[in-house]
Amino acid sequence: MDATSITEKEIVLVILYTSFFFTILAVVLIVFFYFSRKKIIQKEIEKKDAEIFHQKELLKAVIETQEAERKRIAQDLHDDISSKLNVVALNAHLLATPNLSTADVEKIKSNVITLTGKALENSRKIAHDLLPPVLEKFGLDAGVEELCMEFSSAKGVQVIYENEVTFEESEIRKQLHVFRILQELLNNSIRHGKATIITVTFLKEGEYTKCMYTDNGIGFDAGDCSHQKGLGLKNIESRISFLKGKLSFYSEVSKGVQVEFVF
Ligand SMILES: Nc1ncnc2c1ncn2[C@@H]1O[C@H](COP(=O)(O)OP(=O)(O)O)[C@@H](O)[C@H]1O
Ligand SMILES: [Mg+2]
Repeated sequence: MDATSITEKEIVLVILYTSFFFTILAVVLIVFFYFSRKKIIQKEIEKKDAEIFHQKELLKAVIETQEAERKRIAQDLHDDISSKLNVVALNAHLLATPNLSTADVEKIKSNVITLTGKALENSRKIAHDLLPPVLEKFGLDAGVEELCMEFSSAKGVQVIYENEVTFEESEIRKQLHVFRILQELLNNSIRHGKATIITVTFLKEGEYTKCMYTDNGIGFDAGDCSHQKGLGLKNIESRISFLKGKLSFYSEVSKGVQVEFVF
């Protein structure tokens, strides 16, 4: 009788202790999961914030470049077109002056012809800089070939261009981004890198196109803060993101620059 009651007591105690132990364990586990979940969510929020910040920076670069381009176009129009047309207008008014000698008339005519010719040539140049006609008419391959030739002939540098890809005519919007990226890379190689040999290559990689770009210039430490990304490199990044492409940029001091992007 006595022995049975002790055993029952023991059993009750064991059950009590066990349930107490499991309750504590459950509480500890819940608290642990709650805090680790909170930490994960916090990290995710930080990651998203960083992404949004990066996107904002890219957008800012796009807007700033657009403004800079507008300023440059306005200046070009003002200096190269408006000023010439102003003088043409002045000369045309002079023609209305009574009792002009034949020599004066001839002089005014020659002025007008020279100035309108120059204004025409400049307007063609401005239009060409905005959108090279060869790119629109004959596509990326011809556009890049012309760009490389222009750099080779005018800037004392050898640009070697190779292409094994046929570009679709329908994708001219995409191709314009690629063209602008190469324009910026070439300008950087000359301006900052003082490069003498540059290579541009298009390859087919599955359904994608890969562009490889190298220069033999002075290069720069891509991880160094003093070489912070300027508008040019930020713009390249945003164009790559428009293309839903991938970009890798390598450079070391005195080892030139190697860039690869897939689109
Ligand atoms: N090909 C290159 N060779 C050497 N340095 C380069 C090259 N490309 C870029 N850099 C460095 O990266 C910086 C940022 O370039 P970028 O974003 O195009 O701005 P920007 O050309 O307006 O200075 C440059 O100031 C330069 O120091
Ligand atoms: Mg630049």
